[in-house]
Amino acid sequence: MIISIANQKGGCGKTTTAANLGALLSEKHKVLLVDIDPQGNLTTHFGINKADQKHTIYDVMLNGRIEEAIVRKDGIDIVPSTIDLAGAEVELTGKIGREYILDGELKRIVKRYDYIIIDTPPSLGVFTINALVASDYILIPVQAEFFALEGLTQLLRVIDLVNSRLAKNLKLLGMVMTMFNSRTRSSNEVLEDVRKYYSKQLFRTIIPRNVTVTDSTMAGSPAVKYRRNAPASKAYAELAKEVKRRLRVK
Ligand SMILES: Nc1ncnc2c1ncn2[C@@H]1O[C@H](COP(=O)(O)OP(=O)(O)O)[C@@H](O)[C@H]1O
Ligand SMILES: [Mg+2]
Repeated sequence: MIISIANQKGGCGKTTTAANLGALLSEKHKVLLVDIDPQGNLTTHFGINKADQKHTIYDVMLNGRIEEAIVRKDGIDIVPSTIDLAGAEVELTGKIGREYILDGELKRIVKRYDYIIIDTPPSLGVFTINALVASDYILIPVQAEFFALEGLTQLLRVIDLVNSRLAKNLKLLGMVMTMFNSRTRSSNEVLEDVRKYYSKQLFRTIIPRNVTVTDSTMAGSPAVKYRRNAPASKAYAELAKEVKRRLRVK
């Protein structure tokens, strides 16, 4: 089961969702997290020292051998990313089959894991496409802020394109509202809009805005490991259950 966490909008909670879902699922399952964002925030989330990494997603995208890039941290396998990855975008330009590189790499190791979760960059460039092509499902975090819906139709069109032009069978697992603040008008209005247009896709669980998320990131561990009873941690635990239920039905 390979799931991409994607939304070309920056700062909508992709990395936070990938890290917390990954940490929760790893309690009972074998999980691999793949960081394919040059910013490497997921890598940082797990307190992995980027300077120590010899083989990262950058090397995987250019030379393969994903097995050598896997780092074990707190019971989870992680393929880290560093800023080097930004350079790979140019190096891959014009390379035939570049959309299928990650797909091919993950195919070799997919049987070792129950879940593979891929954290993507804030763009619809070659790395996000690689993630989507490699995935069975896409999970879209939607930030409870104005303009959150902008770009969603474009993202949904990309799913169709991946399926039609790149001959895949990518399915939308769902959308999750993140950083919700019930006291603000913007949060409530966005939630209303998403419920209006995407009621079936939206997960019932809503992730609240919560300082524990930022505190835990600074401490180099996901919120659900850092403070289990914090509001965001409890919400992510609910989301993980809902994700599993949807996967069983789909
Ligand atoms: N539920 C939350 N409560 C408070 N801050 C959050 C929450 N989710 C994410 N953040 C913060 O918002 C910022 C963007 O989140 P992030 O997951 O990195 O988004 P993306 O990966 O989509 O760019 C980060 O600084 C993160 O710590
Ligand atoms: Mg991110």
